[in-house]
Amino acid sequence: MSMVIGIGFLLIGLAVLLVLLGIRAWHIKNLFLRLPPVVLSGLLALVFALIGAVDLIGVYRLDAPRGNPASNLRVTATPDRLARGEHLAHLCAPCHSTTGNLPLDGGTRNFLDGLGTLYAPNLTPGGPLADWSDGEIIRAIREGIDKNGRALMIMPSEDFHQMSDADVQAIVAYLRAQPSVSHVTPPRTVGLIGTLLIGTGLFPTSAQDPITRPVSSPPVAVTAEYGKYLVAMSGCRSCHGPDLSGGRADGGPPPGPNLTRIIPSWSEADFLRTIRTGTDPQGHRLAPDQMPWQALSAAYSDDELKAIYLYLHGLEPTAHEAR
Ligand code: HEC
Ligand code: HEC
Repeated sequence: MSMVIGIGFLLIGLAVLLVLLGIRAWHIKNLFLRLPPVVLSGLLALVFALIGAVDLIGVYRLDAPRGNPASNLRVTATPDRLARGEHLAHLCAPCHSTTGNLPLDGGTRNFLDGLGTLYAPNLTPGGPLADWSDGEIIRAIREGIDKNGRALMIMPSEDFHQMSDADVQAIVAYLRAQPSVSHVTPPRTVGLIGTLLIGTGLFPTSAQDPITRPVSSPPVAVTAEYGKYLVAMSGCRSCHGPDLSGGRADGGPPPGPNLTRIIPSWSEADFLRTIRTGTDPQGHRLAPDQMPWQALSAAYSDDELKAIYLYLHGLEPTAHEAR
């Protein structure tokens, strides 16, 4: 990070120097000799200052500690909680595991390939969470900041922001109960292009607003309401679009098709079979690295998938809008 901070200040320093040069050139008597150096130094100063400032804004967004408080709650591991947590932890496995399955021993994929280094860390007791409090882990999951309050990247806390207290506590109980694996993932580094993307807001960080009130889920039942809750926290929208009418191919997550048009023509059994087997009613095999059906299948019971189906089936069919 110090490298990109250095570049930011260097660019702003160069801009100041160019302004000084421009002021000197202003004193040249002949207008035709004066204008080119003044205009050139002015333009270059503007460009350097802009890039330098956006870079430093990016660094600030990534590294300045956020003030979100962490609760001092201690999660006790009951058998119910552990079972629920183990199910939900499958939602984390596509990123936080060497095998794509449990335990969550840390990912092997560099999410910032070309822009820096970013691996999803080892979440077993053998990884960094060993010296985090339960409240700090809960805050990381739902608010997207690390132990020191620094914004995380790629971690889908926007989706987990609405996760109930009961569910996030179940996950923490399970994380603590995993076998200890000592796999070490490389520390995060972000290059200049990365900080520029973050500085301009094109690449948002995972940081979310503080959660200061109790969060509960709708009653656990085969209802569209409970299905809506599960869809919100399962990340369906990051791929299938904010209104589930199809994702965007912008180099972000894999764009999923328009669920508001597909699901109404499927029966409940069609939907369950597709998520359980990865083969849709037309016989199409879903690419597991694109659509995480194995993780969703492991995370959810039949009743939960039925609730998700009910919710999706009730959505207004929407044409896919090119966003
Ligand atoms: C889309 C991929 C992805 C998914 C899914 C995901 N994470 Fe993450 N997570 C990341 C990445 C990448 C980081 C590292 C972010 C950083 O350091 O900027 C991270 C960081 C974290 C951290 C902070 C760890 C540390 O040492 O700094 C915790 C805790 C965490 N994730 C928990 C979870 C849990 C629990 C789930 C599932 C409920 C989950 N994550 C799902 C990608 C993901
Ligand atoms: C990481 C991105 C991602 C996430 C998260 C995701 N999907 Fe998908 N989904 C896709 C992609 C991409 C496809 C198309 C895969 C293919 O055709 O191989 C797809 C396909 C599907 C299909 C099959 C459509 C068809 O016509 O065969 C269904 C149903 C579906 N997704 C539902 C969901 C639901 C429900 C969720 C959340 C619980 C979800 N998806 C989460 C990316 C995602």
